[in-house]
Amino acid sequence: MMEYVKRPKIVAANWKMNGSHELCASIIDQLLLTSGSFTEMDVVLCPPFVYLHEVHQKLRESAYKLGAQNLYYESAGAFTGEISADMLRDMGCQFVIIGHSERRQLFQENDELIARKFLSAYHAGIVPILCLGETEAQRKQGVTFPTVEQQLKAVLDKVPVQAFEKAVIAYEPVWAIGTGLTASPEQAEEVHKFLREKLHAINPAIALRLPIIYGGSVKAENASDLFKQANIDGALVGGASLKAAEFLSICRSALATT
Ligand code: PGA
Repeated sequence: MMEYVKRPKIVAANWKMNGSHELCASIIDQLLLTSGSFTEMDVVLCPPFVYLHEVHQKLRESAYKLGAQNLYYESAGAFTGEISADMLRDMGCQFVIIGHSERRQLFQENDELIARKFLSAYHAGIVPILCLGETEAQRKQGVTFPTVEQQLKAVLDKVPVQAFEKAVIAYEPVWAIGTGLTASPEQAEEVHKFLREKLHAINPAIALRLPIIYGGSVKAENASDLFKQANIDGALVGGASLKAAEFLSICRSALATT
């Protein structure tokens, strides 16, 4: 039986490949009106790379934090089109999303590459948000637990468990991403608990402090029930993060359950 440890909530906005100068300005202006409310939790904005600078400039005096959606694991060199962890830190990023299912599926990122990316974020002092989750077919086959366990193990095989002292896991069932289908709070909680138990067997103190957030069609209307679960420490929000009012409502639900 795991003891209970209070963990601050994290809500991260994954804008994916969406946005423009205009959209950045309008979302940020609305978020800044309430920035003072979120000092007891982490609210992280992950815009596309090209908007990082502008979002950073607008957010630097606020409680909001900046994150990127990806990185390359080398620190510099002849890697055309890629961006390193050191560059992200230089631009003010404190977080980076690693291993999102869209990158695993559309850009053939495998466990080995994801582990290297995680390690380079860790070395650069950027908090990796490690995404994992099963496909619809895997859930139907009843292999959800072994699937997420393997995804976690692939990183733990290459990265010291101490790296999880400053990391976030995002459980994102692939069938729930962008589909409008959300895992029920109970379905999500059992996977979050399972992941925490796996880490607990390796290092209890780290496991109890690690934020495990949920992603997959999180909206204002379902956020609060998800956040009430003992092992759900926040959310990675895609579509709903592009609407400032809806995103703020999700953040307020998180704060209310902190
Ligand atoms: P969604 O995306 O909220 O649009 O389902 C979540 C994610 O992909 O991180």
